[in-house]
Amino acid sequence: MPPQTPAEIIHSEPVPAPAGREIAAPGRAPHAQIIGLGAYRPRRVVTNEELCTSVDSTDEWIRTRTGIAERRWAEPDETLVAMSVQAAAAALADAGIAASDVGCVVLATVTHLEQTPSAAALIAHQLGAVNAAAFDISAGCAGFCHGVALGRDLVQGGSAGHVLVIGAERISDFIDPQDRTTAFIFGDGAGAVVIGPAGRPGIGPVVWGADGSQYGVIGQTRDWKAFMEDPTGPRPFIQMSGQQVFRWASYEMVPVANRALQAAGITVDELDAFIPHQANMRIIDAMVKALKLPEGVPVARDIAAMGNTSAASVPLAMERMRRDGEVPRGGTALLVGFGAGLSYAAQVVRLPWG
Ligand SMILES: CC(C)(COP(=O)(O)OP(=O)(O)OC[C@H]1O[C@@H](n2cnc3c(N)ncnc32)[C@H](O)[C@@H]1OP(=O)(O)O)[C@@H](O)C(=O)NCCC(=O)NCCS
Repeated sequence: MPPQTPAEIIHSEPVPAPAGREIAAPGRAPHAQIIGLGAYRPRRVVTNEELCTSVDSTDEWIRTRTGIAERRWAEPDETLVAMSVQAAAAALADAGIAASDVGCVVLATVTHLEQTPSAAALIAHQLGAVNAAAFDISAGCAGFCHGVALGRDLVQGGSAGHVLVIGAERISDFIDPQDRTTAFIFGDGAGAVVIGPAGRPGIGPVVWGADGSQYGVIGQTRDWKAFMEDPTGPRPFIQMSGQQVFRWASYEMVPVANRALQAAGITVDELDAFIPHQANMRIIDAMVKALKLPEGVPVARDIAAMGNTSAASVPLAMERMRRDGEVPRGGTALLVGFGAGLSYAAQVVRLPWG
């Protein structure tokens, strides 16, 4: 069979059902890749100095322990949906895809304030993605990498022509501003990618999992039911056992990253970029060392300016690398997401530029 031309790299038509009781098979794409990228960074910059007016801490302590110099906290009009729509619209424009060509909108978040319906349904509506299924996924700071895995499978499996994967958080709504164990870490923002059909593999196999035995390591101070039963107490906020998360992420995510490289058939020397979840600069440094990443490979360090933006951190970091020309020609990047659950997901992707 002759090689496919770009125009042919589309979903095949559904395979009609043979006579009898068989079900027709969906059309499929040979491969999938990220074809567009967008980001939204809230306007308001919160420096460590400002933060320390409500938290008992110092700029020096925060910088030394986390590498964070400042973060963004969303203002009232910068809702979760509004930030997501901005990032997604930028990703669609970057991909050259109309909203009506999107078959599925996946929002990774832990900070949608309504139990139901999903924020993704409203995002799809506001974008004009009238032909799209839409739903939210909750996998903590690993949510975006889960979404990329889903997006790839939806495109290759034939359930959607193009998938919009958004990672967005308004995590400032869930922070106790006086809690010195969490308030300095987290920030708000949104990042998005468009995943579409491709003639060669653009998203490697995902290595993912969840360890529910560590369910309480990152979570809430109390659940909403407890709050409903006793609303006189403080409302639920985010809480975490910092040292436990630190140890787990620094040591256990390296084998996960290595497995993702192996699954993609890429060696660490062949990477063009390393884009881990932006949890703590020291965790990033520990991973770089343990992975034996060659010195010349650019490493995402968006955390210094954005803090930990949970599900938004990987696409935001990817966007900064492109904007700053840190990875001028695109190429292959290793993504590693990890967070509440405890959950994780890692994969090698081809970057959507160059
Ligand atoms: C949260 C984190 C920065 C804390 O750093 P740490 O080195 O583990 O700090 P510890 O909790 O051991 O506390 C060390 C000391 O600093 C103090 N301290 C804690 N928070 C402080 C703050 N905000 N400002 C100043 N001092 C603080 C503690 O009281 C303790 O003092 P002591 O030694 O006198 O008892 C670190 O554990 C971390 O980054 N963990 C991972 C968090 C993360 O990535 N979360 C998201 C995952 S998706």
